Amino acid sequence: MKIAVFSSKSYDRQSLERYNVSFGHELTFFEPRLSSNTLALARGFPGVCIFVNDACTAAVIDELAQYGTRIIATRSAGYNQIDLAAAKQHGILVVRVPAYSPNAVSEFTLALILTLGRKIHKAYNRSREFNFEIAGLEGFELRDKTVGVFGTGKIGQMVIKNLSGFGCRILAYDKFPNDEVKRYATYVDGPTFARESDIITLHCPLTPETHHILNQETLPYLKDGVFIVNTSRGALLDTRKVITFLKNGKIGMLAIDVYEEEADYFYQDLSDKIPTNDELARLLTFPNVLVTSHMAFLTDHALRNIAETTLGNFAEFERTGQCANQVG
Ligand code: NAI
Repeated sequence: MKIAVFSSKSYDRQSLERYNVSFGHELTFFEPRLSSNTLALARGFPGVCIFVNDACTAAVIDELAQYGTRIIATRSAGYNQIDLAAAKQHGILVVRVPAYSPNAVSEFTLALILTLGRKIHKAYNRSREFNFEIAGLEGFELRDKTVGVFGTGKIGQMVIKNLSGFGCRILAYDKFPNDEVKRYATYVDGPTFARESDIITLHCPLTPETHHILNQETLPYLKDGVFIVNTSRGALLDTRKVITFLKNGKIGMLAIDVYEEEADYFYQDLSDKIPTNDELARLLTFPNVLVTSHMAFLTDHALRNIAETTLGNFAEFERTGQCANQVG
């Protein structure tokens, strides 16, 4: 199939080209993300391949339909960036990679907790300046903490299994509790989860229900000094309110791999530009905040799975007109 690959970085290109040898698709790589400004590049491609920050709005999908697009494949598990109703209306199939590597995101989540919890980011910076003073680098041990895992699907479940080795108390919250999780964690109701978790890590999709789930109304119910970790989607947090609660100490630590306005910033080198996003700039001034650029997925194992599944999704659609990994 002729496929336009948007938001393609060198690592996407390498893995997709390597695994395409056994699929034989005709891949054309575009570095910019798909948006109303770039969608003309998709003209004449029945397959469009995107990533997490491509803007697959109803207006963009209307145009893509005119250009002959028949399938949109996101190289991610989450698909909140795609207007599914618009795609359905035009008969465009939307497919994703449902589980490329829960381990990649889980291990990154643990890395964020351990880095911030043991102040490794500060120690690293000190050592590079030949400052070997350790005062101010006191951390905590996970065995003394209660960790709340919000969302116990593929990634949340892996986080719980990985955490179980640290001896911490693990609470879980999900609309659909899972028996396997009960071997390692205790499902509790929302108020108990909020009141008793020292660390809260979010692993649910972004939906209208979970949008700004941590906000002006819910944040006060959390433990004083709570450590929040978000590797799911930026808009699960109301960032402005989170900043307020960082300033008054209610939130003691924050580690985010995702940011609600990340689309204009992440995956680009903006080091010689004046920061234009006030909230992002403010977050970066806090010593107890760690920001990474939506990279929890980025392992060799995950890239291989993403490439193979994505190319397979297109092949299945070509063969059958459907795909097991379709959404919507
Ligand atoms: P999943 O679909 O396996 O699990 C999601 C869980 O959230 C389900 O158990 C579901 O019941 C639960 N859930 C949904 N709405 C809820 C609500 N309102 N209240 C409580 N629980 C709710 O998804 P998976 O694979 O575990 O991924 C989770 C999220 O991680 C994805 O949606 C995506 O946004 C994010 N992600 C981030 C990556 C990164 O690089 N930072 C990479 C991959 C995924």
